[in-house]
Amino acid sequence: MIRTAAALLMLLAVAPLRASDAPYVPTPMSVVDAMLDIAKVGSQDYLIDLGSGDGRIPLRAAARFGARGYGVEIEPHLVRGANAAAQKQGVADKVRFEARDLFDTDVSKATVLTTYLFQSLNLRLRPYLLAKLQPGTRVVTHEFHFGSWQPDQKITITAPDKPYGDPRSDVMLWIVPADFSGLWRVSLPGEPERELRLEQRFQMLSGQLGAQPLAEGRVNGRSLRLVVAGAQTYTGTLDGDTISGEVSRAGAAPQAWRAQRIKRGRMDIDAGTETPFQSGSPMGDSR
Ligand SMILES: C[S@@+](CC[C@H](N)C(=O)[O-])C[C@H]1O[C@@H](n2cnc3c(N)ncnc32)[C@H](O)[C@@H]1O
Repeated sequence: MIRTAAALLMLLAVAPLRASDAPYVPTPMSVVDAMLDIAKVGSQDYLIDLGSGDGRIPLRAAARFGARGYGVEIEPHLVRGANAAAQKQGVADKVRFEARDLFDTDVSKATVLTTYLFQSLNLRLRPYLLAKLQPGTRVVTHEFHFGSWQPDQKITITAPDKPYGDPRSDVMLWIVPADFSGLWRVSLPGEPERELRLEQRFQMLSGQLGAQPLAEGRVNGRSLRLVVAGAQTYTGTLDGDTISGEVSRAGAAPQAWRAQRIKRGRMDIDAGTETPFQSGSPMGDSR
């Protein structure tokens, strides 16, 4: 009986917490560096890698930039190896790895979040990341995207050390957008107040200012940029329910503007819908 219990405990110590949702395929180091560069990782950052494998992304962020990091990985032997590597590389005070299900991980403290997971997993994570990550958090993926949430930046780099397929990889960056949607009252010195109506789908804004439709509208973290009637550009930063910033109009000096939210909307994050899977990856994504 005691022997059986001991054997079971040993088995639990080496077995995954549950079945892995994606195979272990390491990101080539050239791609790791491109991921850190596109996110502009610095010493102030706290990077979380979901499905951290041998820990190379947080380890590299610590070694190159002094960033703190955390990785969660379902395979305990990979976690043990990653923590041992952190010790060996002298970054164990900055980087930590845990055997944990990525779907049961608190990501709220991340300033940079990385994944190299199937698109189906990214899509499952998408609403959670948008709800839990602070606006402005940089999300970087290797190869797999987030469906209808379009990347803010995408590069393709050569990766001669890639273990499968074409020796090149996509690296994509998303900046978690603050929710600007709703009805706003806009004030500019010496002008009557106007209503600004904003609808938001991920980082894209549409709507109208007074009677004028927005020609362009985009969110970058807590900042926004609106172009009205082709010639007026409003930039601003969100603080609570207030936007403050500057408006540039043709032939006039830039002017301060403010807006107060009078009714909250809700950012459209395409909840419950899935886009077709990205094809062509030898890592596959059948779900
Ligand atoms: C493609 S590898 C990426 C490893 C590492 N992030 C890299 O880029 O080199 C995906 C990793 O996610 C892990 N994984 C899969 N499902 C997981 C889950 N539900 N929770 C935590 N880790 C998981 C796998 O074991 C695997 O090591």
